[in-house]
Amino acid sequence: MVKIAVLVSGGGTNLQALIDAQAAGAFPNGNIELVLASNAKAYALERARAAGIEAIVVSRKSYEDPADYDQAVVQALQSRGIDLVVLAGFLSILGKAVIDAYPDRILNIHPSLIPSFCGAGFYGLRVHQAALDYGVKVTGATVHLVNEIPDGGKILLQKAVDVLPGDTPETLQRRVMEQAEWKLLPQAVAMLCDQLDGASTGK
Ligand code: GAR
Repeated sequence: MVKIAVLVSGGGTNLQALIDAQAAGAFPNGNIELVLASNAKAYALERARAAGIEAIVVSRKSYEDPADYDQAVVQALQSRGIDLVVLAGFLSILGKAVIDAYPDRILNIHPSLIPSFCGAGFYGLRVHQAALDYGVKVTGATVHLVNEIPDGGKILLQKAVDVLPGDTPETLQRRVMEQAEWKLLPQAVAMLCDQLDGASTGK
């Protein structure tokens, strides 16, 4: 059984999509064991608690040195035997210690078609604002593996979503979530669970 941790910073609609997918049997060989938030106000924590999942805060603000924050995150994950880490609207950039502890075992969802509108500074509504400012007619979402380059790891899944006349960052964000993110992320987690479970049992 692949032990999954979901890292969050905000509302947690992607976390909710994972919780719902798990309840519907989408991860037969995986289980969400932990939700870790980078700030105590993240509504995602409520979603985790409502689903009976352990929810903890490792506050980014409490650590001056990013390397110390990374160590605290690794400690929280490893002490629970976590195998797979899912960044679902996690807005802190994780450093080498975390990436080295979980090589090819950290997934991120990004709300654009990478390599457009991605990298440092592109998060949440800013991504959709940038897409609207540029005037693209199609955007979407990407699930990728995490390496040391922000939004630079291997792409696993992508889905395109139309930009419509009159879109605001908020309407576009909602459409990208509904049509792409909430579908892609559970799909990618199921895929990785299959791979990791197969590797550990020799299937
Ligand atoms: C999502 O749109 C996610 O793709 C994005 O933040 C939002 C979080 O929403 N992530 C990034 O921009 C990462 N660069 P949620 O908390 O409701 O899942």
